[in-house]
Amino acid sequence: MKKINIAIDGPSAAGKSTIAKRLAKRLNYSHLDTGAMYRCVAYQAQRLGVDVADEAALATMIDAMQIDFDSDHHVYINGEDVSLAIRENAISMLASSVSVFPAVRERLVHMQQTIAQNKGYIMDGRDIGTVVLPDAEVKVYMVASVEARAKRRYEEYMEKGMDADYSVIYKDIEQRDHQDMHRPLSPLRKADDAVEIDTSDMSIEEVEEAIAQLLPSKC
Ligand code: DC
Repeated sequence: MKKINIAIDGPSAAGKSTIAKRLAKRLNYSHLDTGAMYRCVAYQAQRLGVDVADEAALATMIDAMQIDFDSDHHVYINGEDVSLAIRENAISMLASSVSVFPAVRERLVHMQQTIAQNKGYIMDGRDIGTVVLPDAEVKVYMVASVEARAKRRYEEYMEKGMDADYSVIYKDIEQRDHQDMHRPLSPLRKADDAVEIDTSDMSIEEVEEAIAQLLPSKC
C-alpha cells in the first residue's frame, strides 16, 4: 500500500477539517489542521500583548513557540492545551490578520512541510495545494455558500456550548473570505489541478464519498 498526501483547501467553515478528520480515520492517515496553527499564533499574540500588526514581533514570538497536535486533535502551545481557546470567533479574525505576513507564513509553512515529509497526511487550509504540498497526489477545493457555512459554524458553537450570534458569524465569514482571498501572499485560490466540490447542499457523508472517489484504489 502506497501512502499519499491529500490537500484540502477552501474558505472558512466549508467543512474542511470535519471531512479531513473522517477521511484520516477511514484511511488510517494523519490529519493536520493548518488553520489551527495560524489560530495559535493569533491566540498567543493576543494573550502576550504582542502587536498583531508587528511582523517582526510576531516572528520572534513564533520562534519561541512549540505547536503540537495529539491524535485526539488537541492543539498545544508549549505543552499547554489551547484547543478550545483558539476556536473563539475573535481569534478567527485575528488568525486571518496575522496570516498575511511573509515571516509568519514562512515559519508555519516550513513546520507543515516538515510534518508532511512522511506521506500519509491529509492537510487542510488555504494554500496546501498551491504552496505547502504542490505535489500532493489528491487536491480538493471545498466551497459552500456563506449562508451554509455560517449556519454550520453557528451549530458547531451551540454544540460546544459556546456563545454565538449568527449575524456576527455571517459577517465575519464574509470578511475573512475577502481577507484570505485578497492578501498578496498565498491567497486562497483553487490549485489548477484541484477538484472543486460545492458542499452547500451535501451531507458530510456525501462529501466524504465524493472525495473517496478521487483516491487511488490502494492508498
Ligand atoms: O481554517 P481556519 O478558519 O481555522 O483558519 C484561520 C485563518 O488562518 C484563516 O482565516 C486564514 C489563515 N490560514 C491561512 O492563511 N492558511 C492556511 N493554510 C490555513 C489558515
